Amino acid sequence: MKNCLPIKGTDYVEFYVGNAKQAAHYYQSAFGFQPVAYAGLETGLKDRVSYVLRQDKVTIVLTGALKPDSPVAEHHKLHGDGVKVIAMWVDDVQKSFHETTSNGAKPYKEPYTIKDENGEVKLAGIYTYGETVHMFVERDAYKGDFLPGFIKWEPEYQPNDTGLLYVDHIVGNVGWGEMDKVADFYRNVFGFDQLISFDDKDISTEYTALKSKVMANDNLRIKFPINEPAKGLMRSQIEEFLDFYIGPGPQHVAIATDDIIKTIADLRERGVDFLNVPDSYYNDVLDRVGAIEEDIEVLKKYKILIDRDDKGYLLQLFTKPVEDRPTFFFEIIQRKGAESFGKGNFKALFEAIEREQRNRGTL
Ligand code: FE2
Repeated sequence: MKNCLPIKGTDYVEFYVGNAKQAAHYYQSAFGFQPVAYAGLETGLKDRVSYVLRQDKVTIVLTGALKPDSPVAEHHKLHGDGVKVIAMWVDDVQKSFHETTSNGAKPYKEPYTIKDENGEVKLAGIYTYGETVHMFVERDAYKGDFLPGFIKWEPEYQPNDTGLLYVDHIVGNVGWGEMDKVADFYRNVFGFDQLISFDDKDISTEYTALKSKVMANDNLRIKFPINEPAKGLMRSQIEEFLDFYIGPGPQHVAIATDDIIKTIADLRERGVDFLNVPDSYYNDVLDRVGAIEEDIEVLKKYKILIDRDDKGYLLQLFTKPVEDRPTFFFEIIQRKGAESFGKGNFKALFEAIEREQRNRGTL
């Protein structure tokens, strides 16, 4: 991957939401994100407000519209709450924009520079699947908390964090027959390589199926699994997503922790809803994954899933959708050597999602 664009990691993930103020409270109280910065009417914005929250290396931005003709309002009307921007931290915005657009990416924002007393940040953006965009962020010459134009946000209410550390991967759901096209986009535009692919034989239950390809950059800080639906007896969770998001979009952000039992216990205590895992999952899981350091009874109590590949094992769990539509959710993951994505859990997981779909009448 000689020609892979240098990317240092995920800079931030921006959600367009119906009520940024209330969403910010949810991410503070339920997930333990810490308040960082704010922009809105008080800082000169006319059509939107943004709250910036952070936990270790994970920065999220929650943006809501102030006016019905704001692009944020239009996006929200169509898609509901969801991820609009997956921002990448780069050394050179000009070069990142020039290379990706020369390789065929559609421009979203031409390179520009913003400044305040803390220095300057260079930014540019391109489109990826659906209406989702990648912003490039060059911030070596900036000492502030987030971006110029934002002010410190210091509410009195500051619950503790929950041990979330960094973005492990971000999954995109795309339409029928589009997975290869989007995988090729990341290969041709960014120079990403394909880590793994799963077909419908790997990812299917009695009723539903999907296909997936995982695209990654050279230092593996950016990992984008791309899903598309596959034919099954019933409607797959990817079709349900596409129907409610009205097109392709980010399906989940996986956030890493180094103590998943503590993190999940904490998140559950704070009211985060997770997918239900049947007790029967734990009857034979150790036969599949072999010896692990954790007490299986504790994992069963918190319904944490386990999988193993040739490099080690991983522990993971998925939240239910975090907004009204059955679209975006989070994954919490702890890697103990494993570099894969929990293929061994797909069946148990999808059966759990099918139960949810059945309740929603969308299976
Ligand atoms: Fe995942």
